[in-house]
Amino acid sequence: MDIVRTHSLGKRYDTHTVVDDVNLRIPEGCVYGFLGPNGSGKSTTMKMLLSLIRPTSGEVEILGRPMNHGTRRELLSHIGSLIEAPPGYGHLTGAENLRIVQRSLGLRAEQIERAVATVRLQEHLDKKVKNYSLGMKQRLGIAMALAREPQLLILDEPTNGLDPAGIEEIRGLLRHLAEHGVTVMVSSHLLGEIDKTANMLGILSQGRLIFQGTRDELFAASTPDVLIDAIDPSRASSILQQKIPVQVDDHTLRLSGIDDRGTAQVVAELVGANAGVYGVRRDDQSLEDVFMNLTKGGRL
Ligand SMILES: Nc1ncnc2c1ncn2[C@@H]1O[C@H](COP(=O)(O)OP(=O)(O)OP(=O)(O)O)[C@@H](O)[C@H]1O
Ligand SMILES: [Mg+2]
Repeated sequence: MDIVRTHSLGKRYDTHTVVDDVNLRIPEGCVYGFLGPNGSGKSTTMKMLLSLIRPTSGEVEILGRPMNHGTRRELLSHIGSLIEAPPGYGHLTGAENLRIVQRSLGLRAEQIERAVATVRLQEHLDKKVKNYSLGMKQRLGIAMALAREPQLLILDEPTNGLDPAGIEEIRGLLRHLAEHGVTVMVSSHLLGEIDKTANMLGILSQGRLIFQGTRDELFAASTPDVLIDAIDPSRASSILQQKIPVQVDDHTLRLSGIDDRGTAQVVAELVGANAGVYGVRRDDQSLEDVFMNLTKGGRL
């Protein structure tokens, strides 16, 4: 089952469309990496899922039920969230902040204890939150979101500003939660931060969902560059330049967005023209490259 679905979800401010016709599908039990450059609409989309701002078009469905005035309260009780700055009162301790959450949501003490143990914050509960490190604040925020034992956890850039060890710790925590049946939606503008943690990816660019699927599907949706080695690269590039953009680096020509048939044609032409072709291969491509191609080059 999909725990989240949106139907042509959109948000417009005056004439500026910031989320455009988005159809999210978040299967139960996955870690869904919600990626996109700064300003692409990640926070706006997440806030619409949480009913914090009102969509200007489309619908949100949580746990198979449409989010509306009548269902909102009940549906939100199954969702924990951490949006933008970590929550909590600085002049209170971690324990005091958690007591506020416990009382306002009517939770049992064990629920708070379990959430604290999950984020490993036990030793820091008696410190004032203003003296917490950023990583500790994020973990407190996640504990607050987890205390109600949600089916879905929505985290907006929880690794923002953390050092590599802090990032790795959050990643481990997300994997742990997913293994225990919590569906996690986590946003980032940096692919590397959630790369291996997420088993589903959604990529936003200028408010549009330009990709949604698994990592393998993402690789399959993009074509790596073709690299051709030639003894006479200037002759080779002058033959090709009229038909296809070519970058030349030493003896290697780089051709983008070209399929196998196109590659065969190019090679036949270069061989026919005696350009001295001695190597043809596809470039290795990292997920980062694919992401950049999708969001900057706009190839999908
Ligand atoms: N209240 C608002 N009024 C007008 N424009 C807004 C408002 N809130 C957000 N925007 C615009 O919507 C766009 C998307 O913003 P959003 O915060 O959703 O992006 P984001 O992907 O979360 O970016 P970041 O990675 O920087 O957090 C931006 O261009 C932003 O300026
Ligand atoms: Mg944001």
